[in-house]
Amino acid sequence: MDLEHSPAWGALTKLHAQHHHSTIAEHFALDPKRAARLSIQHDGLLFDYSKTGLTDSIKAGLIALADQQALDTQKNAMFSGAHINNSEDRAVMHVALRAPRDAAYHVDGRNISDDIHDTLDHMRRFCDTIHKGEWRGHNGQPIKTIVHIGIGGSDLGPYMVCDALKDFALNGMNIHFVSNVDGAALHNCLGQINPDETLFLIASKSFTTEETLKNAESAKAWFLKTTGAAHEAIAKHFAAMTVNVDAAVTFGIDADNIFGFGAYVGGRFSLWSSIGLPIALYLGFDHFTALLNGAHAMDQHFLHAPNHENLPVLLGLIGIWHRNFCTYESLAILPYAQNLTALPAYLQQMDMESNGKTVDRNGRDLPYATGPVIFGASGTNGQHAFYQLIHQSQTIIPCEFIAFKTALSPLQDHHDALLCHVLAQSRALMIGRKSEATAPEKHFSGNRPSTTLIVDALSPYHLGQILALYEHKIFVQGAIWGLNSYDQPGVELGKILAKEISGALPTIKNGQSATTSFDPSTQNMLDYLFKN
Ligand code: F6P
Repeated sequence: MDLEHSPAWGALTKLHAQHHHSTIAEHFALDPKRAARLSIQHDGLLFDYSKTGLTDSIKAGLIALADQQALDTQKNAMFSGAHINNSEDRAVMHVALRAPRDAAYHVDGRNISDDIHDTLDHMRRFCDTIHKGEWRGHNGQPIKTIVHIGIGGSDLGPYMVCDALKDFALNGMNIHFVSNVDGAALHNCLGQINPDETLFLIASKSFTTEETLKNAESAKAWFLKTTGAAHEAIAKHFAAMTVNVDAAVTFGIDADNIFGFGAYVGGRFSLWSSIGLPIALYLGFDHFTALLNGAHAMDQHFLHAPNHENLPVLLGLIGIWHRNFCTYESLAILPYAQNLTALPAYLQQMDMESNGKTVDRNGRDLPYATGPVIFGASGTNGQHAFYQLIHQSQTIIPCEFIAFKTALSPLQDHHDALLCHVLAQSRALMIGRKSEATAPEKHFSGNRPSTTLIVDALSPYHLGQILALYEHKIFVQGAIWGLNSYDQPGVELGKILAKEISGALPTIKNGQSATTSFDPSTQNMLDYLFKN
C-alpha cells in the first residue's frame, strides 16, 4: 500500500487538521505535567520535545506510522547485515564498527567484528608508535603534525570530531584538514607545516575521488621537493584509509600503512572506521574508544528501547510530523557550544545526502516530501545572523537545540550566559510577543516548534551518543519514507559533467571551438574564463 494512502498516514492527516489551530502554549496551559511527560532522561541526556505541537494522540499516531512501516523489522534488518542499501546491493553496518568484538556481526556469512577489531588493533599500534615517538620521519624526526586529506564523509566527520574535542588533544599534536580542490586549501596548510615531522593521511573510501587524489598528489610532490628525500620516504610520511587498497599502493603508500574498512560502511557514516584514524592520532586512542563506546550505547538504546521512549525514533518521528504534516521545509540544528561549530555541516551531509531522494526503494517517484533542508550554526553566533528569520518570517523552521550542562572552559559565568540564551530562544519561539499597534515590527507570532537536547558534557562518550542519535534518526525517517538512505546518486551528474568540461579545456584554451556542444550559458562562461 502506498504510504500516502495508508491508514496511519490518513489518521495523522486528520490529526493535523484537528490540531493545527491549537498552539504549543495552549497545550502547556491544559497540561501542567506536559514538560515532564514530553521529555526523556537517558544516560546523561535530557531530550525535551514538549515545545512542539505534539499531543498524546499525535505521538500515538506517529508511533502507529512507525509500526505500520515495520520500523522494527527494518531496524533488525540493518543490524543483521541485510543488504538494505538495495541500489548498491550492500549491507549498512556502521553500527558494527563501535560494537565489541564478541558482538560477532556478520555480513554475507563473514564475521566482520573480527575484521573490524583487527583494524582497530592495527590503528592502536600505529598510534602508539607515533605517540611514543618511535615512528620517525625520513630524517629521524618524530611526527608532530597530521595533515588529513579527504572530502565529504571522508573529511567532515573526522574534522568535526577533532574540532569538537580539541580540549582532549594530546600535548604536542597538531592537525590540519584539507578537502577542497581549491588549491588555496592545500597551499595554506603546507605553508604552516614542517614536512620532516608531518604525516599525511589520505582518506578516501573509493580512492578515486578527484579532489582527494589531486590534493594527495600535490602534497606528495611538495613533500618530495621540499625535503629532497628519496621516494622511499613516502612510506614514513603517508598513510591511507580506504577500501581500495590497490589504488593506495599504486599511489605509493606502503601496504603496512593502509587501513581498510568494509564496503558496508557509507562515507557519511565512516568516522567510526579507519577513517577515524586522525581522531585517534590527535586525541589518543582511548578517547577514540570512548567515542565508539558512546555511539555503541546509543545503538543499544535504539535497538532495545520501546518506541515511545526511544530517542532516535522520537526525534525521527517529530521530523516526519514537521516535514510531511506541518509541511515545514527546513530544519535548523543549533548546538550551543563553540566547539561544535562544524556539527551542522556534518549533520547536513548526513541527512541531506541520505534522505534527499527522488524515488523510493522500488524506483517509484516519491509523491511526498522527504529530507528537509538542514542548516545551522553554533549558538549564540547564529542568533546574530539568521535567527531574525526564524523568529519573524512567514517560514516556520523547526529548531533542534543542543546544549551542555557542564562548561568546557573555566569561565562558568560565560557558560551560564550561554545556557540562558538557549533556554530563552526556545521560549521566545514558543511564546512569541504581542506588540502594540504602533510597533507591528516588534510582533512575534510565537508557536514555533523546537526540541532541546541537554547533554551532561561535551566529552568523547557523549559526542558518540549524539552522532549515533542523528544517524538513527535519519534511518528512522528513511525507513518510514520507504527510501534508500544509503546511496547518493545525486552527486554523480556534476562529477561527470565536470570531467566533460575539463576535457574541453585544452581546445578552448587554444582558441578553438570545443567539440562538445555545451549550452550557451556554459559555453559563454567557458570562453570568458579560458579563451585566449
Ligand atoms: O559526495 C559524494 C561522496 O561519495 C560522499 O558520499 C563521500 O563521503 C565522498 O564523496 C568522498 O568519497 P570517497 O571517500 O570515496 O573519497
